[in-house]
This record gives sequence, C-alpha cells and structure tokens, in this order.
Amino acid sequence: MIPKISTLGGYIFEYQKSVTNPTGFWSNIADSFYWRKKWDQALEWDFTKGHVKWYEGAKLNITENIFERHMFFRGQQPAIIWEPNDPSEAHRTLTYEALFLETKKFANVLLASGIKKGDRVAIYMPMVPELVISMLACARIGAIHSVTFAGFSAQSLSERLQDAGAKLLITSDGGFRGSKTIPIKQIADEAMGSCKCVSKAIVLRRTGENVPMLAGRDFWWHELMENSSVENAAETMDAEDPLFILYTSGSTGKPKGLVHSTAGYMVYSAYTFRNIFQYGDGDIYFCSADIGWITGHSYLVYGPLLAGATSLMFEGVPTWPDAGRFWEIIDKHQVNQFYTAPTAIRSLMALGMEWLESKNLSSLKVLGTVGEPINEAAWHWYHDHIGKNRCPIVDTWWQTETGGIMISPYAGITPTKPSYATLPVMGIQPMIVDPEGKQLMGNSVEGNLCIGYPWPGMARTIWGDHDRFVKTYFSTYPGLYFTGDGVKRDEDGYYRILGRVDDVINVSGHRLGTAEIENAINEHPLVDESAVVGFPHPIKGQGIYAYVVCPQFSTGGEEGIRNSIMLAVSHMIGPFARPDKIQIVSGLPKTRSGKIMRRILMKIAEGKTSEFGDTSTLLDPEIVNEIVKGSESIR
Ligand code: WT7
Repeated sequence: MIPKISTLGGYIFEYQKSVTNPTGFWSNIADSFYWRKKWDQALEWDFTKGHVKWYEGAKLNITENIFERHMFFRGQQPAIIWEPNDPSEAHRTLTYEALFLETKKFANVLLASGIKKGDRVAIYMPMVPELVISMLACARIGAIHSVTFAGFSAQSLSERLQDAGAKLLITSDGGFRGSKTIPIKQIADEAMGSCKCVSKAIVLRRTGENVPMLAGRDFWWHELMENSSVENAAETMDAEDPLFILYTSGSTGKPKGLVHSTAGYMVYSAYTFRNIFQYGDGDIYFCSADIGWITGHSYLVYGPLLAGATSLMFEGVPTWPDAGRFWEIIDKHQVNQFYTAPTAIRSLMALGMEWLESKNLSSLKVLGTVGEPINEAAWHWYHDHIGKNRCPIVDTWWQTETGGIMISPYAGITPTKPSYATLPVMGIQPMIVDPEGKQLMGNSVEGNLCIGYPWPGMARTIWGDHDRFVKTYFSTYPGLYFTGDGVKRDEDGYYRILGRVDDVINVSGHRLGTAEIENAINEHPLVDESAVVGFPHPIKGQGIYAYVVCPQFSTGGEEGIRNSIMLAVSHMIGPFARPDKIQIVSGLPKTRSGKIMRRILMKIAEGKTSEFGDTSTLLDPEIVNEIVKGSESIR
C-alpha cells in the first residue's frame, strides 16, 4: 500500500523530511511497488543540462503494478466504470481481472502487428474503455503510446504522427459527444494520408457507421481480438524507458512532445492520486477529463489504477442531454471523489440550480479542480452546492510537463482558501523568482514560479529535441525548472497561481500557444499577418482575440472573412481553438525593431484602452488609435 498522510501535523513533519532528503522520501514510496529488480541509484540529476534520472538500474513493468500486483485482492473489484454519452445506453464495468484480460489480448494483437518495444503507437479515440486498454497494452509490451485528443484536426494529428514517427494508429469508426457524432476515422484517414510513417491502423467499432477500410492497412479491432491469446508476459523495462509521449502547446508554433518515464511517473502519479484525493478502499472516483490530456493520463488511468482504485470514465459532455448529466452520474454510481475543471463548473453554474434538483450528491467526499485558476465565485458555488459545505476542494496546480500534481491541498488535511492551490506536494520545492532571476524569499511575495529540485514524475525530454527541452524549461533561470506561470505566496505561505507569463493561453482548460493560432490564421490566403492574445472570459477563463491584417479584403464582407478564418483555424488545429473575437486591422502596433507590442493588444482586448504604459518605442502610434476605435464595434 502506498503510504498516506492523514493529519496536518503529519503533512508538515513529512514535508520537512521530504525536502531535506528527497531521495529517501521517494525511495520509501517506491518500496510499495513491484520491481523485477530494484534501483542502484535513486536519483541522478543536472538541471543545467535538463538531465534527470530516477531509480536508475531498476527493472519493472508498469502494468504488473496495475494488474499482477492487485489481482489477488482486487480481481473482482471494478477497475473502470464506463458511463456512455447517451444515458439510455447501458454502462459497462470492467473488473481488474477483465481489464487485465483485455489488455493481455490486445498486447498480443500489437505484437502480432509487428510492434516492438520502443516503437511509437498513436491513439486517436473517443472516451471508451478500449482507449485505456490500448494504452495499457502498449505499456505491457514496452511500446510508447502517444494519445491525441479526438477534438484535434487531421492536420494536427498528422503533425503529431510524424513528429513521433508512429508506426501504428489505433482509432475508431466514429465517436459520440453530446448530440454530435464525430467522424473520427475520416479525420484519421486524412491524417494518415499525409504522413508516411503509419503503415497500419486498428479500428474500433463504436458508432457503427459505414467507414472505408483500406485493404492491407486498416484492420477491425474486434476481428484481431477474436482469436488473440490471453497469455502475455510483460516486457521488462528500465526505469527510464519512455512510457508515453504527450503533445502540448508552447510559446512557439510547433507543439512539444513531452516524454514521460516509466518508474518515476508510476511512483509519482500513484502517490499523488492516493494522497491528494485521500482515496480509500471501495471508493468510486470520477475524473471528468479527457484522456487526450495529461489529467486523463495521470488521474483517470495511471494514478487510480496503480493505486487499485475504481475509476469512472465518462464518454460524453456535461451539458447533454441536459446540464444535470454530471450530477446524475455522481448520483447513479455513488461517486466519492469528483475531479473536474473550473470552466465546467462555471458553465454549469451559469445554467442555474434546477439541474441539481432531485440529484442526490451525498456520496461525495472530495472535490477537485484543475487546469486553470478557479475564481472565488466558482469555488464557492462548487463548495456550497455540489459539496454541500462538507467536501474539501483540492485546487490542484500542475502541468503536462510535471506529470502529476505539484501544489495542492491534501483533501481534508490542508486547510483550504478559495482560489489558492495552497501548499506543495511532498518533495516539491517551489521557488519564486523576479524577472532578473533573483529568488524572492519569505512570504507575501509575487513572481515567476520555478521548481528547485527534481521530482520523479517530471518529463525527461521533448521527443526528438532535447535542446528545446533545456531551452524552454532550464535556461530562463539556470539551475531551476521554469513553469511559465506567475504565482503569489501570501502571508501564510500559501500559493496562488496567477496564470501564464508567456505566450500561452488557457481556453476552457485547453492550453494553446498564441503563435500556433496565428500560424493557422496566417494560412488564410487573404491574411498578411495576425496577432492573437487572450482576454478574460466569464466561462472559458480566457477567450481568444485575434487582430488580423488583410489588405486585399474589401470592407463590407467582414462577416464572411471572419467565418472563413474560423474555419481555417478549425481545420488546422481543431474547433476548440477558434477565436472568440476577430478584429480586422490595417496594421499591428510594432516597435522600431519590428516586435509586436502584445501588451497593448492585450489591454485593448480586455477593454482597458487607456492603460498602455510606456509606448515610446512604438513605430506608428496612430495604429493604436485606429485599433482602439475599431475594437468598440467588436465587443
Ligand atoms: C497550465 C498547464 C495539469 C493538467 C491540466 C493542464 C494552468 C493548471 C492550475 C490550477 C491555476 C492552473 C497553469 C499551467 N493550471 N492547473 N489549479 N490553478 N492554473 O495541463 O495543459 O499542461 O496546462 O495550466 O497555467 O501552467 P496543461
């Protein structure tokens, strides 16, 4: 059993120990896992080179820690409860034994398809149990999985397939999301068509639609599984072998494939899951995130299953068939811990209280949020109306790069404060630095958030580009990991995350690079250049505001050009990246050296048109007046 903190005194005492002796702490946690061979050295590191190794010399397979390790006592316990999009369709329950069986069968399918240890397998699927089976089967045979969220476009998928050099794609005919049916196979076909590396696709039948199957390339999941053996011995992996690649956006246009390790990720995701949520035997835990994002990887699949938990997985959306869908699921399955994003809370809050009527939420013990800062109003609504004033809220701050939760209350143990992520997880050493890199000591300080010491769950590199890894995370403040977030440490030493300080925006918990959206807009034949900034949005947290220069565009057709820019972005990235506001401008505010002054554009997007600060470096101040004027009709 993974050790669990149970009192505030215990937290304070253990935290001190964990930062004085992190390797001792993480060796002790690692002792509760199953190793084919234990490590020779707990940690080796050099942040200046972006070099981190945990548990070197150890041999293991992460799926043995999910299945073999739990089979004796938990074989008949539900591992996954799957709730379909449509409430009239039956839910499915897969016990640890059943999930194990499917995983071994599919592992054999992968082997028979020519996949070997170290090969990359791409997954582009709706939220169905076979997505989890696919990931675990990869881990079983030592293949590196790379899941792409099924809301991404063919273009984005294709980019990721090529960057990872994926040999095989696991996908489905289609997917159900609310009232929509997503043509997943059609998108996958387009993506595979434009990349050379993928030679085989395995297609799950989900919607039953007629989809073209390319002979010699496409194979049906159910046909391959039919005669697949249930015997499969797990591959032996080294501690530092990659477990998966997951792409995320950064401040430049090209998404980064963060690589996560086997042993460190295992220990960290399981430890944080059990401790932050205070999961106990028999509890039903529900994380509403999509597995296409890191939250789904760490806190729907790996963390819970490694901890022997029952993880509820939901295929659909919170507002279909009506805005009571989450609460109905919690009532129906007697959910004990519920983990969601502030954007979901805000949108449900806006739809009124009637959706809560007649829903029994008394099973809930712990509520969690992740992905973006939670505003106080949403925090209180969640606390009062969902948690009925008796469930602690864990506001968990972390990132794709960190692999697991970094700053968060331990549920019911750490006293909470609305909109504060509160205190660090064991072994995590947050540091606040000013723009010059000077560390700000003590309380009541504000600056950029860095982490001063390695933790087992951190990403090890960017796939195929270690230099970029070093440059992005370890060069801004040499010797420290730089998160890209601003933070405040208040008078009590509590942390409050203030949001990104780089060119990354967070729209409904989706992380997007402004450069990525600009690249998509600039693909439009009438567009010369563009600048994208975030602005405060009541539901989404941040909205997307695009300033677009299209000289050949004839006035009067603004609606038309806006729509076609929206379409271009949908096509290039995915519908979730569509700008909320598009303003056609004749030029952008630039410095004499040609740099776009985003600060000014952000103020205009926010409606604060008189607080531009120092504008002395502006090349053409007149353009600002024009943009301010034009912005009035955009609101
Ligand atoms: C960025 C990471 C971690 C899983 C989901 C997002 C923001 C995340 C919080 C929080 C305030 C938060 C940060 C971070 N963020 N959690 N509790 N409070 N901000 O992962 O897509 O890698 O995005 O999300 O800005 O840097 P991601």
